[in-house]
Amino acid sequence: MIQFPDNFTWGAATASYQIEGAANEEGRGESIWDRFCATPGNVLNNESGLVACDHYHRFQEDIQLMRELNLEAYRFSIAWPRILPTGRGQVNVAGLDFYDRLVDALLAANIEPFVTLYHWDLPQALQDEVGGWGSRQTAEAFAEYVRIVSHRLGDRVHYWITLNEPWVSAFLGHEVGVHAPGLRDTPLAWQVSHHLLLAHGLAVPILRENGDSQTRVGITLNLSPVYPATPSAEDQQATHLYDGTHNRWFLDPVFKGGYPSDVLTWLGEMIPKMEPADAEVIARPLDFLGVNYYYRVIVRQQAGKPEVVRPEGAQLTEMGWEVYPQGLHDLLVHLHQQYSIPGIYITENGAAFPDTISSDGHVHDPLRIQYLHDHLLQAHTALQEGVPLAGYFVWSLMDNFEWAYGYSRRFGIVYIDYPTQRRIIKDSGYWYRNTIVANGFAS
Ligand code: FCB
Repeated sequence: MIQFPDNFTWGAATASYQIEGAANEEGRGESIWDRFCATPGNVLNNESGLVACDHYHRFQEDIQLMRELNLEAYRFSIAWPRILPTGRGQVNVAGLDFYDRLVDALLAANIEPFVTLYHWDLPQALQDEVGGWGSRQTAEAFAEYVRIVSHRLGDRVHYWITLNEPWVSAFLGHEVGVHAPGLRDTPLAWQVSHHLLLAHGLAVPILRENGDSQTRVGITLNLSPVYPATPSAEDQQATHLYDGTHNRWFLDPVFKGGYPSDVLTWLGEMIPKMEPADAEVIARPLDFLGVNYYYRVIVRQQAGKPEVVRPEGAQLTEMGWEVYPQGLHDLLVHLHQQYSIPGIYITENGAAFPDTISSDGHVHDPLRIQYLHDHLLQAHTALQEGVPLAGYFVWSLMDNFEWAYGYSRRFGIVYIDYPTQRRIIKDSGYWYRNTIVANGFAS
């Protein structure tokens, strides 16, 4: 039997734009994802989060599902444009009321809310008026938004996550262009990464001010352990640089007080503009790090640059992501050794597989059960080796809008039949429930 510590937190995660729908209701403003989806060709089948899982109207039913799953915690995000439809200034009280009701309903169900303040749905007005995250003003606007939200919810929400995956916001949104706002400008992407981190740092003391002694503040990063394709010096160098631009660029300023010097040197003229005091703001002490883990990365040196190598014969999920549970262990141990992080939550881990409803009415997803089992086993090993791992959130509670892939990728432990909005707990959901009840599983 694999047994987790008594105080280990078991949860599931979602994000506002991916589940809420009700995009034009009760005063919600436009977000950069609404705009991005409205441009043909950006999202598979030109789908959008307009309706999604209709969670905005069905949150009571969804909390009932969480109870059936025995969840102890629920990680969700707040849609900034519901609170401030134009990003700054005028507050939309109906938006605050919605999250207020959600939080109260969760607490009544004995489920701890873990609230992410930014999971990519920036108010479009900030993009139009100041250039979005390319501008420092957006970091300041974020602080204002966080003040409003935490003033309203800080007496009941104890766990706050400032940002979800700033690497993805910055680089998929502003360099690769496959996420909103769909820009392709590398120096801008680096500048954006700095403003996101600045926004994070500005929010930290505000969350503490509006909270109490139980308040815990963290940030969620997407992290992949990076391995060299061969032991050659070139491949090791490439691996270090890739780790620098993807992982250390975010970890070092938050947990070590400054950007990694090798990456700064490599950036040369692309070093983002920053003010002298920023480093200290970004490094304000946190209570935890949220880790989103999906896959490892293998790198070799190719024409003087790091190149990602595909491992041969690997099992892939429907995203094309390699299934590599051991990477989670390696990552957690590495974080524990390299950074002094008081606590770690796995804030996302999970897999997309082509699920269907069987003739017996159930959704049989043995591959997802195997995936969760194998990753939790690795997390457990890391725990035994001293990693301060405090909890695990499966991505995702339910199938949802998977960004540029639209509704084609199903990550849920609950199946959504989109035409009817019917929810069906998948076999993996029942497996996860049993794991929570037993606080572990038979290995
Ligand atoms: C992460 C995102 C989350 C979801 C998963 C599959 O990068 O944070 O919203 O899309 O990937």
